[in-house]
Amino acid sequence: MASLLQPAISLSSPELLGKSLRLTFPRTTATPASVSISVRAGSYTDELIKTAKAIASPGRGILAMDESNATCGKRLASIGLENNEVNRQAYRQLLCTTPGLGQYISGAILFEETLYQSTTDGKRFVDCLEEEDIVPGIKVDKGLVPLPGSNNESWCQGLDGLAQRSAEYYKQGARFAKWRTVISIPNGPSELAIQEAAWGLARYAGISQDNGLVPIVEPEVLLDGDHGIDRTLEVAEKVWNEVFYFLAKNNVIYEGILLKPSMVTPGAECKDKKPSEVIAEYTLRLLKRRVPPSVPGIMFLSGGQSEVEATLNLNAMNQNPNPWHVSFSYARALQNSVLKTWQGRPENVQEAKLALLARAKANSLAQLGKYSADGESDEAKKGMFVKGYVY
Ligand code: 13P
Repeated sequence: MASLLQPAISLSSPELLGKSLRLTFPRTTATPASVSISVRAGSYTDELIKTAKAIASPGRGILAMDESNATCGKRLASIGLENNEVNRQAYRQLLCTTPGLGQYISGAILFEETLYQSTTDGKRFVDCLEEEDIVPGIKVDKGLVPLPGSNNESWCQGLDGLAQRSAEYYKQGARFAKWRTVISIPNGPSELAIQEAAWGLARYAGISQDNGLVPIVEPEVLLDGDHGIDRTLEVAEKVWNEVFYFLAKNNVIYEGILLKPSMVTPGAECKDKKPSEVIAEYTLRLLKRRVPPSVPGIMFLSGGQSEVEATLNLNAMNQNPNPWHVSFSYARALQNSVLKTWQGRPENVQEAKLALLARAKANSLAQLGKYSADGESDEAKKGMFVKGYVY
């Protein structure tokens, strides 16, 4: 019977993407007369694949600068600045107008305020990025709230009205999106929390693709906890299993997504620390077991690692060829030195831009497997883990 179900064409051929097929089989007792297979209908298919490939281009990665106003406030407070629109604009202006950034950065994730904001000279931030060949992206989730019936875990809001918002973001110039949900190892994770995280990500991914935005799929396995690296691997395998199950159920085009996983590390409070080579080996083992090669790019989050740690781990993962582009989508691990250098002072802007270029270049080299930590500052080696961190 199985041979009767084998179509003469391959259902994974790129020319079939975006088409809806009806396959007819001879009627038997075991098979229906026809089987409907939706490969996904959508007018943006080619563009999504092109956008994802452009972001996953050699030697480049993503600058995550999409902190919500509350989180941006924490960043500004760390250098003694008030959290107001003028200060947020000044900081985002520093980042978006760094000449030469596009050599190392292929995409920048923005918060909604920044997507619609301009420089103090009136140039849209979106245009500043495009001039550097950096694709503008947008954070579309509406944050985490407690998940009833779970073990003090959370779920991510934002599906209501998402199609309309995404269409508006596309008009404003965004070409990719981010939805961050989290999984806590010390709190379980419960089956319920994993399933909810995966289902939400898959629904968001389908809606983004329908509106021309490449979805970044980000189930962040938090660093919190004293568990060892094997436990992290076990949980991450479960999570990605569920995520791909629901992505497939929602007919998401794998060629038009990007993943944003956590690296597989021991919990932040685990005594048994592991070197980069071991973290790379575990993380690649996870990815090879769970991620199809049709996914163009894996863009890691830094999750509270120090700038140097995050770069060293990425470098270790790129010592041999991988089926996907293995790169970065860091916030803290790209911005820490920049903030410390800037201190909110106009006279420090040039130096802060150089600090951003230095971090971006280090991660670009790590994407190519050619980074060395020689000469890195003590500041860049400082860990940034915060227990119970809210983004
Ligand atoms: P970190 O690199 O600071 O973990 O942030 C990345 C991010 O965008 C989380 O969604």
